[in-house]
Amino acid sequence: MQVDTVITNIGQLLTMDKQGPVKGRAMNDLNILENAAIGIKAGKIEWIGMADDAADLTSHQTIDAEGRLVTPGLVESHTHLVFGGSREKEMALKQQGVPYLDILKQGGGILATVNATKQTSYAALLKKALFHLDRMAMHGITTVEAKSGYGLDKDTELKQLKVAKAAGEAHPLDLVSTFLGAHAIPPEYKQDPEAFLDLMGELFAEIKEENLAEFVDIFTETAVFTVDQSRRYLQKAKDKGFGIKMHADEIDPLGGTELAVEMGAISGDHLAVTSDDGIKQLAASDTIGVILPGTSFYLGKDTYSRAREMVDAGAAIAISTDFNPGSSVTENLQLIMSIAALKLKLSAEEIWHAVTINAAHAIGRGSEAGTIAIGRRADVVIWDAPNYMYIPYHYGVNHAKTVMKNGDVL
Ligand code: NIG
Ligand code: FE
Repeated sequence: MQVDTVITNIGQLLTMDKQGPVKGRAMNDLNILENAAIGIKAGKIEWIGMADDAADLTSHQTIDAEGRLVTPGLVESHTHLVFGGSREKEMALKQQGVPYLDILKQGGGILATVNATKQTSYAALLKKALFHLDRMAMHGITTVEAKSGYGLDKDTELKQLKVAKAAGEAHPLDLVSTFLGAHAIPPEYKQDPEAFLDLMGELFAEIKEENLAEFVDIFTETAVFTVDQSRRYLQKAKDKGFGIKMHADEIDPLGGTELAVEMGAISGDHLAVTSDDGIKQLAASDTIGVILPGTSFYLGKDTYSRAREMVDAGAAIAISTDFNPGSSVTENLQLIMSIAALKLKLSAEEIWHAVTINAAHAIGRGSEAGTIAIGRRADVVIWDAPNYMYIPYHYGVNHAKTVMKNGDVL
């Protein structure tokens, strides 16, 4: 058989080739092929087999993995990719113990980034987004979700979404876009959040028409949007044909997880303080819990999402960085895999499901990304690691040796 590229001498190959999303205990079962090889043709996986049999393939290029771990490219299912400025000055406030929502109330936090994003040109935002995408790619990520939400006015929200679209077109990584106009209440609408939600809702038609986002998201939180406001807004989005996501139960347990399930959201994200009932409902639903333990870490929380109980109850979860300039400032999903192991008590097997196949399902890419299988896009990472357990174990550094997108080495 003639292929373009062969990767051979793969010590462990994780194919993650399953009918997803993978729920509950099944997240512990990994398909591992040892001493494997894969053949890639025209950007797709053409052949999977034993390294010994790869000699039958003829190829233009052979990559010797020298016994390393090979997996699907990581899927990053929750980022705030496009923003202006940075907020390093908030570190001192954090150290003084000023809560995240108090910084926001004082006009800092998200609102500080909103001001910076308004003042940053389209070209500069695009350059910065591409920089962060490069860094994600370097760390083994091949598909990325990106939210708006640092505009909070019509023009700037559209500017962010257009930057995300252009970044996805210009960069080899695949990008999935989410409209998060309902990310905070801008000061001029402080007395009338409903009117602000109406204003953001007026953008739905244009966003749909210009294909600027697939999903609509909202920050359901104390002093941001209530559960009732979120329900009404998300229903409007659903009626317009958008998939639904939520920033739910991040800081205060308002019942956002329950609302995500009730609305049939593709994902409920954060779920850091989900109630007992919320866990049960999530487990019984098709909604994927996108868990962001780096945010709990970065906000200095003592308690983390009860992801362990969610999986034990039968839920499907994904894990992501939440990359943003305030509550989780890292593009390194490998680091978050370590935090997931240490703080969420998830097994390495569960974590790999959570950053590949389940993450792909959480952003509507379950049939394209997160799996190595014949006919799939060749999004593949060779890791400088002897086995899959090594990545969460050896923390804080980048283990990605070779990252391939559609069969091309990045
Ligand atoms: O997912 N919770 C709301 N939004 C982001 C943080 C955004 C920011 O602080 O700039 C989050 O944590
Ligand atoms: Fe977020």
